[in-house]
Amino acid sequence: MKSIASAPGKIILAGEHFVVHGTKSILCSINMRVNVTAEFMSKKIIITSDICNVIIDDLSDNTINIIRPFICIIKKIFNKYNYVGGIKIIIKSDIPVGVGLGSSSACCVAVAASVSGLFGKITKKCIVELAKEGEKTIFENTSGADCTICTYGGIIEYDKKFGFKKINTNKKINLLVINSMTRHSTDLTVKKVMKFKHDNKKHFDLLCKKELLLIKKLKHSLINNNLNSIGTQMKKNQEYLRQIGVSNKTIDNLIRQVNYISYGAKITGAGDGGCIIVLIDKQNEDKLINSINENYKCFQIENERHGVTVNKQN
Ligand code: MEV
Repeated sequence: MKSIASAPGKIILAGEHFVVHGTKSILCSINMRVNVTAEFMSKKIIITSDICNVIIDDLSDNTINIIRPFICIIKKIFNKYNYVGGIKIIIKSDIPVGVGLGSSSACCVAVAASVSGLFGKITKKCIVELAKEGEKTIFENTSGADCTICTYGGIIEYDKKFGFKKINTNKKINLLVINSMTRHSTDLTVKKVMKFKHDNKKHFDLLCKKELLLIKKLKHSLINNNLNSIGTQMKKNQEYLRQIGVSNKTIDNLIRQVNYISYGAKITGAGDGGCIIVLIDKQNEDKLINSINENYKCFQIENERHGVTVNKQN
């Protein structure tokens, strides 16, 4: 039997970094996905993807960084069901890695869902918890926001204390992603913001308050599909992210370049490189893409309603 799970990538419309420090964020799943197929083997652990091809004898081998989150997740599931055999996992993803589109969270979610699927039914609540444990092996300060959106899908408001609430809107949001082609480390960027907070307590607290206000307005704008107001909140959020030091010259230049033809643009995810998202009318997309330096990769995305799914195949 094979258990096949699929999880979406994500963007953050507002609140990245601030959410780690107890404020809220608004996230949205996107129409790029990772698919994971899991299958029992008599022995050995085999994990293959576009970026790794690993065979280990058992789960006590914790030496290979790239698969550490998956080993953590598999171990927890095997322990729960007292299973001591092997497993083969194949990961196929169309989400670019390390640029703020949720590739690692979507992988953790899909691995948790597909491996659990081999043993029976599993709730989304359990999938998120397993995925977060996996993610913590590479990034211990995670707010849990990314794993939550990749599991539940749609558009959500999230905070660490109260979890998530769905934001009800059926409207498609047309976004252009511009990949600055510099990968970032979420762990390091989050640590950089912690230092900023430590050195600039008053400034950071003020930005947290402003961020909360912005998120309230953004939520209303999304429900009313008010593109001008959504764009305005994205621009404001980008300015707050710049002030806490997670933008850079390349990103600042790109943002300036796209603002004239779009409703607004901002970093998505950890920043310090990675992607920006641009809220733009479809008819203006080509003009914008043609004006962007060809070293940067541009692609169109939409919000996606479906979170993680699991199917079994005999
Ligand atoms: C990363 O996609 C989002 C951050 O806010 C980290 C987190 O929420 O865990 C930077």
